[in-house]
Amino acid sequence: GRRVTVRDIAAAKERHEKWPMLTAYDALTARVFDEAGIPVLLVGDSAAMVVYGYDSTIPVTVDDLIPLTAAVVRGSQRAMVVADLPFGSYQSGTGEALATATRFLKETGAHAVKLEGGRRILPQVEAMVAAGIPVMAHLGLTPQSVNVFGGYRVQGRGQAGDELMADAKALEAAGAFSVVLECVPEDLAAKVTTSLSIPTIGIGAGDNTDAQVLVWQDMAGLTPRTAKFVKKYADLATILGDAARSYADDVVGGVFPAPEHTYH
Ligand code: KIV
Ligand code: NA
Repeated sequence: GRRVTVRDIAAAKERHEKWPMLTAYDALTARVFDEAGIPVLLVGDSAAMVVYGYDSTIPVTVDDLIPLTAAVVRGSQRAMVVADLPFGSYQSGTGEALATATRFLKETGAHAVKLEGGRRILPQVEAMVAAGIPVMAHLGLTPQSVNVFGGYRVQGRGQAGDELMADAKALEAAGAFSVVLECVPEDLAAKVTTSLSIPTIGIGAGDNTDAQVLVWQDMAGLTPRTAKFVKKYADLATILGDAARSYADDVVGGVFPAPEHTYH
């Protein structure tokens, strides 16, 4: 079977079909999500927090994310893989953005890139689209700007909603193939979704976006604390913790390895 493409994503909006996106950072989880039918996998710069243990996305680098992205491509067969461009790898201009996006596509096999921002990064979006690189945009709570926002809080209330709408329309005109809307009021997300012909992907943006995305460790219950917008579909922290405790008990008690785990 072939991979999901930007054309499939566009067609889904015309058919009013909603679709799920998940993050992935390694080959085995990419394979599980791919086989579960998740059409788009994002190697998010959230790896800064859920893989590398930083307390924001600011510190993670291109060199940190390239091996994770390559692993997700190798682990999946059908999903479109989107590479998140980390803080400081595209803001300075079109040359930097093109060089970074090119590294991701050539060195990892990713099929598209994602970057944060609206009208202030239009030249970068246009340059990448002109170079043949599909671009996913990201508006609202853009975590790389946490130091400007003064924390992780809802964005786009009141006047800021008009600014977000203008950013979304400008990104569509610049050729972005989709836009993530993070932590914005549901009515704003709904308005943006009907105003654009490209799909919106919501996270904390209500149920009227074309698609949804969650960080997989959040939805699977591995992350200790999560935002209000996260639904927990499993309790992996408990499952893994129980497995580790059982293993430890077995080793200490001399129960593992048993004869069936042993080469005679
Ligand atoms: O880095 C990330 O995981 C993201 C998604 C939450 C959209 O940008
Ligand atoms: Na991100």
